[in-house]
Amino acid sequence: MTEQSGQGPALDNLLTESRTFPPSDEFAAAANARPELYREADADREGFWAKQAERLHWDTKWDQVLDWSDAPFAKWFVGGKLNVAYNCVDRHVESGHGDQVAIHWEGEPGDTRTITYSDLRAEVCRTANALLELGMNTGDRVAIYMPMVPEAIFAMLACARLGLTHSVVFGGFSAEALRSRIDDAQARLVITTDGQYRRGNPAALKPAVDEAVAQTPSIEHVLVVKRTSTDVEWTDGRDIWWHDLVDKQSDQHTPEAFDAEHPLYILYTSGTTGRPKGILHTSGGYLTQASYTHFNVFDLKPDTDVYWCTADIGWVTGHSYIVYGPLSNRVTQVVYEGTPNTPHEGRHWEIVQKYKVSIYYTAPTLIRTFMKWGADIPEKFDLSSLRVLGSVGEPINPEAWIWYRENIGASRTPIVDTWWQTETGAIMISPLPGVTSAKPGSAQRALPGVSAKVVDDQGNEVPHGGGGYLVLDKPWPSMLRGIWGDNDRYRETYWSRFAAQGYYFAGDGAKYDNDGDIWLLGRVDDVMNVSGHRISTTEVESALVSHPTVAEAAVVGATDPTTGQGIVAFVILRGGAVDGGAEAVKALRDHVAKEIGPIAKPRQVMVVPELPKTRSGKIMRRLLRDVAENRSIGDVTTLADSSVMELISDGLKKGT
Ligand code: WT7
Repeated sequence: MTEQSGQGPALDNLLTESRTFPPSDEFAAAANARPELYREADADREGFWAKQAERLHWDTKWDQVLDWSDAPFAKWFVGGKLNVAYNCVDRHVESGHGDQVAIHWEGEPGDTRTITYSDLRAEVCRTANALLELGMNTGDRVAIYMPMVPEAIFAMLACARLGLTHSVVFGGFSAEALRSRIDDAQARLVITTDGQYRRGNPAALKPAVDEAVAQTPSIEHVLVVKRTSTDVEWTDGRDIWWHDLVDKQSDQHTPEAFDAEHPLYILYTSGTTGRPKGILHTSGGYLTQASYTHFNVFDLKPDTDVYWCTADIGWVTGHSYIVYGPLSNRVTQVVYEGTPNTPHEGRHWEIVQKYKVSIYYTAPTLIRTFMKWGADIPEKFDLSSLRVLGSVGEPINPEAWIWYRENIGASRTPIVDTWWQTETGAIMISPLPGVTSAKPGSAQRALPGVSAKVVDDQGNEVPHGGGGYLVLDKPWPSMLRGIWGDNDRYRETYWSRFAAQGYYFAGDGAKYDNDGDIWLLGRVDDVMNVSGHRISTTEVESALVSHPTVAEAAVVGATDPTTGQGIVAFVILRGGAVDGGAEAVKALRDHVAKEIGPIAKPRQVMVVPELPKTRSGKIMRRLLRDVAENRSIGDVTTLADSSVMELISDGLKKGT
């Protein structure tokens, strides 16, 4: 762990924010959540979670709620058996809701599909039967590398139904990122599409799969959905069209019950080293918390609400709040394939109006983008159906929060600022609509059943008004069960910082206000948060030094008014050239996009003669952040060579 991440002006005013927004009496009276939940959970935490688990259908009931004897490896609902897909699909058909729309799917070019729960059951069964025909066995890993098409959801649920462990890889990631994830999980199958629509144009996707699987001997088949009709290369025997294999299958399949701790999915996320971590989630506890949080935090009314979470299924938000939480609650939801400004900047509001969306869940970076585009755009649409708004991915600055409430929520809707992580599996800290008086910029309080603290360096809880590190001091049902194939790294990354207390260290800085509400302050490790996506500085540095012209690289996240943080790279070129030239800089930015994916493309690349290092050789990113954020340079006394910063600043003044 190193110094505090870049914290700019947005954060300063965040800490002086004092407005509160109590729920209306009308909302409170009809809310799913009740204030007593906190007391009930505090009185008997395990009993509370057992009660939440009863939201689900269990084929065999558990004998023990929590087994923490092998901490930090938790077992929840020990001895229980269930089928996750049955819980998300079949049981809603069996309870008479087969005709309810599960998914209003909206393609980027404007094509649409309406999928009822009966349709969803048929599609998931066909897909499951197809995976069986390919010889997939319980426990096998399946990589899913797809845009936001319904088949991506069918594929995830078919895996869940068969006890296959899926590993969804975001469709914006590179061939190399896909290759390393397939390899780490030793996946046998990749499910993909020929191409994807991005900003109005079809872009090929399968070539990245071809490139990746050329180097992954574990892959036996590539199952390809036709989405854009882009020409693709074909390897006979290995590649199979979805429509050839899946469409001919029976729409009947009897689900088998799996152990509560059966692995459901692996999802890779950036850590402080270059190698992404495969976060492992299992079945019963995960689904319990995804379901409970979705129901209470969004106040979901399954018979009347239309819910829309704008995330991509490539991220955990898509897993927990498009697929597992919402479908387990019999949601009717919108799934949108494309970008928010295609073909115009009002696309989201047009969709809200068209489907009468009542719950809308998005990220601060997008809210700030909407602010930039102007309030006159949402004004042109009827947004009166909206009744709950959500935010996730990074701290939301009070300006954005207020803008969201006034311009999207008609100064009426509650806003839930939900803090959680890939590792936590589900929402942990959030207001409850109808219960909490909201404070713009604060995630406020751990949900009933969840326990979080802000502690100092020694692990002691700080007083109200104090700041420190966010920890989770009690196990929770949807917690990660480890890092795929690396138990040591799991212990080291999350449990070693406060080993004496047995706390989970989240990697975030936080503070309590005078009421004891929690304000998240950003990462305290070498992880950047760009548009709500986690990217490690070392991962981008490794990509840069893999380019033949680069001798050394240091990367920092600099405060960015729209994306939260922007990636700023400092590079030393081979041969010591101090002027990279626009061409060289472009080549480096493109190289990072190719190695990791466009989301990791540095906002700026600065060519420098030296990097600031401590005597032990550690790069002082804090000083580079000062440069990147145009601040005067901070304390340089621990630098091995204190003239380096002048050299860098002088060089940049001349060079750029
Ligand atoms: C990191 C987790 C959770 C799904 C999306 C990101 C930051 C997330 C908030 C919030 C302040 C937040 C934290 C966290 N974060 N939500 N409401 N307020 N910060 O998942 O990629 O695993 O990233 O995102 O820094 O540690 P992720």
